[in-house]
Amino acid sequence: MTHAGSIRQVCGGALEDIVSLTPIGGHRPSRKITTATLREKKFQRDTITCLTAYDYATARLVDEAGIDIVLVGDSLAMTMLGYENTLSVTVDEMLHHVKAVRRGVKDALLIADMPYGSYQADANEAIHNAARFVKEGGAEAVKMEGGEKRVDVIRRVIDAEIPVAGHIGLTPQSVNMMGGYKVQGKTLNGIEQLMRDAVALDRAGVACIYLEGIPREVAAMITAEIETPTIGIGAGPDCDGQVLVFHDLVNLAFAQPPKFVRRYGDAAALITHAVLAFKADVGSHQFPNDAESYHLPKETQAALETVLHRKQALRR
Ligand code: KIV
Repeated sequence: MTHAGSIRQVCGGALEDIVSLTPIGGHRPSRKITTATLREKKFQRDTITCLTAYDYATARLVDEAGIDIVLVGDSLAMTMLGYENTLSVTVDEMLHHVKAVRRGVKDALLIADMPYGSYQADANEAIHNAARFVKEGGAEAVKMEGGEKRVDVIRRVIDAEIPVAGHIGLTPQSVNMMGGYKVQGKTLNGIEQLMRDAVALDRAGVACIYLEGIPREVAAMITAEIETPTIGIGAGPDCDGQVLVFHDLVNLAFAQPPKFVRRYGDAAALITHAVLAFKADVGSHQFPNDAESYHLPKETQAALETVLHRKQALRR
């Protein structure tokens, strides 16, 4: 294949559209997902997949399985750090995880969640914090909760060349304002507000919009109305994509899952079984066995025995 041909294959576009000969992600042939890929997928009606990941190993597995978006969600406050909700997690705590995930992700679009308090006060602070996720963490987009009332800040961050993912509906950072984790958009007023939020984010040019905890009928209306890809969680099957929290997917969340979660595996059972088996084998001296041990070379063994015999003889 010619150089131009290989570049075209790697970058996935017409050569004349490519301004840099350095493909994103190095010289490895890749299916690198970008924000443009998400729009293309919506256009082609090709469903977008997204999972959260918070560490290197999980990020690698999710990326290598071909998931389109890896989201370092602020849900890590609960899943990784054991906090009660997402409100306490800080930018520095989030960054620690984003950096680890960056090292594990090659092809997926990497989105970092902006934690509560890092973007609500003013746009300059939002840009400063979003840029940290890009520069220090290697994120390719940041996610912020809120629709109409957050749109000015979101525009400023996009103007600073940072793609933004929106998040509307049941926004966990608003738990105290909502009075709990409640499905949103169940009244005519609620539906109207959600539509205004979605349209405002669409016009602001966000990369995608997460729709959380809303009736499927409303998610379907929003998805049909706007050009921005929608990614649902508890929003029914008519969104342009679906996301789940990784720990819910594999039963590591230590909680009764909400009804929209489907468990695809039981990592809790797998890990518990392995840990109990290790404990039992160590207790009964079956681990480690001889094959799992290192041995002295024959000459050293012979020399050691000679030394030990001499010592014994001297003691007598
Ligand atoms: O923090 C998170 O995991 C999220 C997803 C549920 C969308 O925001």
